Amino acid sequence: MLKSVNLTALDVRTTQTPLIPLDKISRNLDNFVFAKLESCNPTGSHKDRESQAMIKDILARDSNRAVIASTGNAAISLSALAPCEGISVDVFLSKNIEKERLGLISAFSPRIHLVPGGYDEAYRESEAFAEKEEVYNANPGRNKFKIIGDSEIGREIMKQLGLNSPDYIFVPSNNGTLIAGVWLGSKHVRPRMIAAVAPKSRLMSSIAGYHRLDGQELERTVSESGGQVVPVSDLQAASALEDLRFDGVFCEPASAASLAALKKLGIRGKTVVLVITGTAFKFIESYASALGQSHGRKSSRAYVPASASNFSAILST
Ligand SMILES: Cc1ncc(COP(=O)(O)O)c(C=O)c1O
Repeated sequence: MLKSVNLTALDVRTTQTPLIPLDKISRNLDNFVFAKLESCNPTGSHKDRESQAMIKDILARDSNRAVIASTGNAAISLSALAPCEGISVDVFLSKNIEKERLGLISAFSPRIHLVPGGYDEAYRESEAFAEKEEVYNANPGRNKFKIIGDSEIGREIMKQLGLNSPDYIFVPSNNGTLIAGVWLGSKHVRPRMIAAVAPKSRLMSSIAGYHRLDGQELERTVSESGGQVVPVSDLQAASALEDLRFDGVFCEPASAASLAALKKLGIRGKTVVLVITGTAFKFIESYASALGQSHGRKSSRAYVPASASNFSAILST
């Protein structure tokens, strides 16, 4: 007979995400480059780390409602996962959000509030709503559980790399929550934290604008770790998206910002981790159009034979 086990739907996703070597990229850039595949989370982005930590907090407070403003991934994650624990969700979105993003969010039936303007306006309205309705506020800049949830990513990277600590971790950033979390989980080995940002972007919807709503955290992370903020253009991201594709990583354009920033910095001979924040397959139209934009550039992808032995040396020490 089956014994009843006291597992929640959330506990089921506590498995760590893969950390994989990127062979061709490593050869071409003369670094040991690894990808931390947050795209392998249940709803395809690192936002599931944040949702999971917040949902535990919501349950601890005996609450059953939450509100969040989002560019897409956070709304998808919370709207998908919170109802597993009986929590209902209000999401505030720019009315200009891409159709495929809105379609996926709608599939999970949160209460959707479409706001004239961009993410800034959606954020402001959601803040007012949280206060008026006394609903759990799941926004960045308000909720330490988001950073705590993301800190698991840093901890896992350190465990997966064993004795080889990374010299650099590259993180696609907008509000700074994620990079602050990864730093929290890894700062005992002091990797340099690089925030790849997209102040002006049409391609990288998830991070476009560099909003910095957890701004102090982002600035503190970068300065404490000796890192830097690297702005990335759409063309650079599209090119990085294609490089990742040929190493078997299929991510949304915003996630390719981490590789674009690495290429821009031109460092050599280092152990580098790129946080791949979101999957290509949720936003397939924008993925296809971004790959289209990268065609026509002169390819730097002369085929380089696999160098798995180098990576096994790193991973087995
Ligand atoms: C795919 C993706 N990458 C990176 C980020 C940036 O995270 P943060 O806003 O915590 O800096 C986001 C945020 O929405 C995202 O959706």
